[in-house]
Amino acid sequence: MIDTTKASKTILPGPVMNRICATGEAVISCCGIVLPPLTYEPADESHPIHTEIIEDEIYLSMNHPMTKEHYISFFAAMSDQGVQIVKLYPEGSAEARFRRSRVSSLYTYCNRHGLFRLPLFRTGGMPALRTGKK
Ligand SMILES: [Fe+2]
Repeated sequence: MIDTTKASKTILPGPVMNRICATGEAVISCCGIVLPPLTYEPADESHPIHTEIIEDEIYLSMNHPMTKEHYISFFAAMSDQGVQIVKLYPEGSAEARFRRSRVSSLYTYCNRHGLFRLPLFRTGGMPALRTGKK
C-alpha cells in the first residue's frame, strides 16, 4: 500500500529492493509494516561512482565488490519525469546506462553500506557530472 499523502522525500525501496520507489512524498507498507525511507549519504571514498556521458546516455560504473555478501543492488537516475532504475545482482558488473534527458541526481545502493547520491550540476541547460574516482 502506498499512501502518497505522508511525508518522505527519499527513495523508498521495497523489502527486496526491486521495484517499489517514489520520488515524492509517500509512506509504503508491506504486510502491515511501514517501510522506513532510505536516506542517502554523498558518494564517498569507499563508494566512488564513475560517470561518463556517451551521446544521450549517462554511463555509471563502480569499482565495488559484487559478491553475494556485499554488492551494489541498484543504480537509479532521477529526473522531473520520473525514476530510471537498473537492478544489479551479485557476480554481475556494477555498471549501468541511463537516458541523460533531464536527470537531476544519481543514486546507488550498497546492500551493506546503504544509499549514496552523486550530485549533478547544470551548465548551459545540459547536465554536467562530477565524476567519482576510478
Ligand atoms: Fe559497499
